[in-house]
Amino acid sequence: MNPALLRKLAWLLCSLPLVYLVVQAARVQLGANPVETLEHETGSWALILFLCSLAITPVRRVTGRNELAPLRRTFGLFGFFYAALHFFVYLLLDRSLLWSEIVVDFTKRPYVMLGMAALVLFATLAATSPKRVVKALGAKRWKRVHQLVYLAVPLAVAHFMWTKWDKNLLERPLVYAAVVLALLAWRVWVYAKARRQVA
Ligand code: HEM
Repeated sequence: MNPALLRKLAWLLCSLPLVYLVVQAARVQLGANPVETLEHETGSWALILFLCSLAITPVRRVTGRNELAPLRRTFGLFGFFYAALHFFVYLLLDRSLLWSEIVVDFTKRPYVMLGMAALVLFATLAATSPKRVVKALGAKRWKRVHQLVYLAVPLAVAHFMWTKWDKNLLERPLVYAAVVLALLAWRVWVYAKARRQVA
């Protein structure tokens, strides 16, 4: 498929959750607890898009479809966009900018600390994504920085899992964790194979 068309399609797909949420909000149809719905939807889409971003390289290698490569960045940046929205929903709507409560959350609630750690790492990845930053860093250093994604995504999954732990709703977090583990295992396997070939 034409790479430009593929990228446009990815943009369209990644924008759909936002359009859906805006339409539902305008029709006052976000459910009994709209803030919770927004928090859950933005968090879920952020995580789904980060997983899609991580899956691009294995899919590309297995299928040989190299035109998929730019989608890794598109999915990653949209993932960060939804994660930032998720954070602002939490700050502005959930906590109404009540800093005393926010400080308690950030210092006493491990799931918020995990979310924050993941968000800081995703922000670092997003900030180092523009082409001129890639050029300034150099390919080797840029690659090393972007390996942080393998820390950021498990932190985000741990954050998700923690929010569901005491409600005993672990099915979805466990599915995400299994996908992350499979993607990480693939990476380790590729790395080990490359080292064996060099040795
Ligand atoms: C400072 C950063 C963050 C804060 C303060 C935060 C806060 C929250 C809060 C308050 C909830 C709802 C918990 C509940 O229902 O009891 C939540 C859920 C969630 N968050 Fe975050 N979060 C942060 C970062 C992230 C990031 C970076 C991601 C993903 C990349 C993420 C993904 C999720 C997911 C998937 C859920 C559960 C959604 C669901 O129930 O369907 N969060 N977060």
